[in-house]
Amino acid sequence: MCGIVGAIADRDVVPVLIDGLKRLEYRGYDSAGIALVDGSDVRRVRRTGRVSEMEAAAQAEGVRASLGIGHTRWATHGGVTEANAHPHISHGVALVHNGIIENHEQQRERLQQLGYAFESQTDTEVIAHLIHHYLKGGQDLLGALQCTVKELHGAYALAVISRKEPGRMVVARMGCPLLIGLGEGENFVASDVSAIVQYTRRVIFLEEGDTAEISREGVRVFGADDAPVQREEHLSDVSLASLELGPYRHFMQKEIHEQPRAIADTLEAIIDASAFEPALFGKDTDEVLAGVEGVQILACGTSFYAGSVARYWIEAISGLPCSVEIASEYRYRKAVANPKQLIVTISQSGETLDTMEALKYARSLGHDKTLSICNVPESAIPRASRLVFYTRAGAEIGVASTKAFTTQLVGLFALAATLAKLHGRLDADKEGEYIEALRHLPGSIQHALNLEPQIALWAERFAPRDHALFLGRGVHYPIALEGALKLKEISYIHAEAYPAGELKHGPLALVDAAMPVVVIAPNDSLLEKVKSNMQEVRARGGELFVFTDADSNFNESEGVHVIRTPRHVGVLSPIVHTIPVQLLAYHTALSRGTDVDKPRNLAKAVTVE
Ligand code: G6P
Repeated sequence: MCGIVGAIADRDVVPVLIDGLKRLEYRGYDSAGIALVDGSDVRRVRRTGRVSEMEAAAQAEGVRASLGIGHTRWATHGGVTEANAHPHISHGVALVHNGIIENHEQQRERLQQLGYAFESQTDTEVIAHLIHHYLKGGQDLLGALQCTVKELHGAYALAVISRKEPGRMVVARMGCPLLIGLGEGENFVASDVSAIVQYTRRVIFLEEGDTAEISREGVRVFGADDAPVQREEHLSDVSLASLELGPYRHFMQKEIHEQPRAIADTLEAIIDASAFEPALFGKDTDEVLAGVEGVQILACGTSFYAGSVARYWIEAISGLPCSVEIASEYRYRKAVANPKQLIVTISQSGETLDTMEALKYARSLGHDKTLSICNVPESAIPRASRLVFYTRAGAEIGVASTKAFTTQLVGLFALAATLAKLHGRLDADKEGEYIEALRHLPGSIQHALNLEPQIALWAERFAPRDHALFLGRGVHYPIALEGALKLKEISYIHAEAYPAGELKHGPLALVDAAMPVVVIAPNDSLLEKVKSNMQEVRARGGELFVFTDADSNFNESEGVHVIRTPRHVGVLSPIVHTIPVQLLAYHTALSRGTDVDKPRNLAKAVTVE
């Protein structure tokens, strides 16, 4: 969702801000803007629509400056208008804000009584006026920010500049990520490292409640009590190549094709050790995993479907009971806590608000055993968890999650096997067999990717349809769910997924010649059952598109189309069968001409409720 970038340098920072905003576009937004301290004035350029439109306006105005802030806004309070776009300005103080200020109405009333006029419907504008109010009272910019944040309820990452202080920018963080990039004679701020990684890899992650002052020469950070604090410097490993499209048409296509490497990288530590070592999950593993009696998984979107696959693995392999719940549901229900349960949150971004809040809620219920599976180092959810498994998918830019999902599955499989080992349910032979299967996984994924031309032909038949049904059973049912989600989010075709055994309890009524039915049907113990379900579809004139594997003996017949993955991969089959459904969604969207990487109304990291 919203994104922040800021810079202070000797050079003109306008291209730095615009480049940074372009790199934040993937998060989803509907307007963009920059503000600059230029001499003793603050200049601002804002536009609804794409960053490129705002860039053209900035070029036309010929703005240049060595201090500035920029923002991409995803509308929450107030519609998509230029007046609501950030930066917001109050008497020469300009700021950008990610997050939501919950007490903005009370603050608005108070500020109106103090004589402030409001130009926007946003919750953010109150912050600009509050800072000005404190400046007027004699505070300097940092002091005014520190006074202001104490009056805010809610979540914020803020970057603030003032026409009276051309030598510094001040920033604050609570509940939304914000980091400082350290350059040579120039410094940066960003909500996401991808915005600044082309200028520096040296970053400081601000902690909750921190404020900071950033000048060309240095950075001073202050804790929630306003006392100076030291925050560790990190070297980001986000690569520039992962942020560039290269020879691909879309980031989604690139990321689908990166899966063999992403999975190999994620597996590295397991393959090197040739074992499932508890240390894979961090330092406190012995203490946290000792005595675990069950697992509760919490996540949203695609990550929830990864958790849904994991439930089958965890129960089957480790024998521990496992539940999976949508984070936004869990956080608002009176859950019965069992402190011996391991709480597992899954999040590509590590920022999803509902998942973060579900984790906090679980902790408030007395859950102390927490583990996060995440793709973004140092993001909020892993920082709030005792154990962490970092997937090594690299930056994922396409809004529709692909390589993050399959690498999450790898991490979750490792968790299932590790729990089994700790509970004495994994003998050395079985462990060796699983490690061997994982070793071959990148190759099996590559074989599945080689099916792309055949899948692209199917996609042409899907493109004119209005609806599609996905079926699967057992551990492949969540893959049907993921396939339907991918198709609907990027091609806008209405797609639903059902456990194939439920067909007769409702969805069969929808089946006719106009409803393509995708079936995930690898050769497992449920294959014969799935075949019966397929007969039910055929008998109603439904056209079947079956993804299966080499061992399953399926033949094409009238109304039954079959694509086979070249190898049967046993327990890891859901990971391999994800590839065809990703490719089907991608090529269908391509045929329909949708904005594949930035589907309408959706955002990459959902940082609001
Ligand atoms: C958004 C994204 C999805 C993602 C979901 C959960 O809806 O568009 O691709 O699966 O958020 O995100 P997370 O970062 O927590 O995995």
